[in-house]
Amino acid sequence: MTHPASTDTERDHAVLRTARLRLRPPTAADIDAIVPLVDNPAIAMMTSRIPHPYGRADAERFIAWASDVGPSGRVCAIIRADDGVLMGGCGIEAGKNRDHELGYWLGEPYWGHGYATEAARALIDATFADPGVARIEASCRLINDASRRILRKCGFRYRAAGVIDCAALSTRVPVESYVLDRAVWRAARAGATA
Ligand SMILES: CC(C)(COP(=O)(O)OP(=O)(O)OC[C@H]1O[C@@H](n2cnc3c(N)ncnc32)[C@H](O)[C@@H]1OP(=O)(O)O)[C@@H](O)C(=O)NCCC(=O)NCCS
Repeated sequence: MTHPASTDTERDHAVLRTARLRLRPPTAADIDAIVPLVDNPAIAMMTSRIPHPYGRADAERFIAWASDVGPSGRVCAIIRADDGVLMGGCGIEAGKNRDHELGYWLGEPYWGHGYATEAARALIDATFADPGVARIEASCRLINDASRRILRKCGFRYRAAGVIDCAALSTRVPVESYVLDRAVWRAARAGATA
């Protein structure tokens, strides 16, 4: 992994910093930035839970959820470090009796610059800093080549095919599920720093 994140604090929350990004908890002050970015079918149709259209109430729910993901979960706004622009969101959630699960979205104007990969790597590193985390899961739609590429670049291995609910399409869609084991993550990090 080539973008180790350092931790800092901001308003009593952990903030992750990478070469180009700051990952911090979203707040109500971010709603005006979040809504026009997420209110995009190209984003919603690739995710399980993002509805379309997407409005202020949806952003408020996202922010409330981000503050309540549990001790080993983390949901962040993706901020470009040099100008403070909110570009997207990402998170790793730990469900009851479930492994940690990674998700991310980036506003369309910001696609294609490696930001999502950089954010995902930082979140993964921060999550595995907890020695109790054995693996992180993720899934992407079969048609989501960009997300599949991000998962592969982060070291995830294909696990299985399945289906998930897609809120924006009001139907179930085929997905591939992926897993990143701690041992694979550790080996990749060692290779990156050797
Ligand atoms: C998926 C998403 C986060 C990617 O953001 P991004 O910042 O552009 O991603 P990155 O630049 O870090 O990496 C994307 C990789 O996929 C590749 N890629 C992009 N589109 C591709 C396509 N159509 N086919 C194959 N590869 C593609 C890029 O070349 C890049 O790989 P590279 O670094 O080897 O060149 C963004 O498109 C998005 O938010 N999509 C909608 C929501 C979503 O899909 N979320 C994930 C749900 S599983």
